[in-house]
Amino acid sequence: MSEKSILRALKGERLPVPPVWMMRQAGRYLPEYRATRAQAGDFLSLCYTPDLAAEVTLQPIRRYGFDAAILFADILLLPQALGLDLWFVTGEGPRLSTVTSAAQVAALKPAAAIHDTLSPVYETVRILARELPCETTLIGFAGAPWTVATYMVAGRGTPDQAPAHAFIAQDRAAFAALIDRITQATIDYLSAQIEAGAEVVKLFDSWAGSLKGRDFDDFAVEPARRIIAALKSRHPGVPVIAFPREAGPRYAGFARATGADCVALDNSVGADWAAAEVQKDGCVQGNLDPRLLVAGGDELVAETRRIVRAFSQGPHIFNLGHGITPEADPENVTRMLQAIRG
Ligand code: CP3
Repeated sequence: MSEKSILRALKGERLPVPPVWMMRQAGRYLPEYRATRAQAGDFLSLCYTPDLAAEVTLQPIRRYGFDAAILFADILLLPQALGLDLWFVTGEGPRLSTVTSAAQVAALKPAAAIHDTLSPVYETVRILARELPCETTLIGFAGAPWTVATYMVAGRGTPDQAPAHAFIAQDRAAFAALIDRITQATIDYLSAQIEAGAEVVKLFDSWAGSLKGRDFDDFAVEPARRIIAALKSRHPGVPVIAFPREAGPRYAGFARATGADCVALDNSVGADWAAAEVQKDGCVQGNLDPRLLVAGGDELVAETRRIVRAFSQGPHIFNLGHGITPEADPENVTRMLQAIRG
């Protein structure tokens, strides 16, 4: 059997039709997801019940035949495994107990203790490795340290990550120690996902765009570089996708600086610019504005084709610039796939 298309693209191969998957492809826009989530009771129970988490991971594969499945879990399970309280408020989002001092950083559980909490996630990966179609690639993931830290410091999502920036200004060494703890734990977490059967891993740095200058180097580039170097030494050949969302000009050179095999692009960067400046270093993924899956119509088809064309001269995995939203029409996903696959 020939190698899976996603793995070929991640090795730098240009394919006649780009492989495709979507961020948040298992989610509330799908009626079958809403039914399984209701069965689980709440979002965290869904994440921690391996049979149900595997079921929602498989739903978009059955419906659309995506080339990759992404493990169903959340980036905030790791802070919970490090000892923070975590809960989700319906209609509002996540809430956590906070870490705002050197003493609280020191009181976090050691990286070696995370598996007590996270073992159901590894079981989900094992189920998926057995049950996925043989042509589908299984992607594991974690939040990048900066993005995870922004939630740990603020105790919730924030528009500008102001509490984390204030922590940096007030005690840079303590904040660096927090990033270090998350980095260590992320290496162990992703390593365990790979041992359970993940074939690729992705680091989500959703708030990378709010880091500037030296802060971007210290808290976005350097932790990603350390995580990727450790994973490459423990698991040679397992590709890593990095998503420094809204990094803007800092997307250029990010793959070289971190060792990532693929860089995921948000929809604020131009596809032609990224083809010239980012794709020259390897595979790229992403860029379609998720709002087009709500609106649909000719613009969805035209923009999908434009992105396919812009990246057609190098390795490319089709994806969105951010997660698909609950308001998206499932029929528009089918239209997008027809525009990619013809
Ligand atoms: O399909 C997939 O992409 C895999 C599963 C996945 C989820 N979250 C499920 C989820 C992945 C990869 C994530 C990553 C994640 N989680 C990120 C990074 C990517 C990004 O979106 O920027 C972040 C920042 C989080 C934290 C998080 N989780 C927030 C802020 C929220 C609330 C906002 C929202 O979209 O509801 C979540 C909840 C969440 N994670 C849902 C899903 C399907 C919705 C929960 C529900 O079913 O009610």
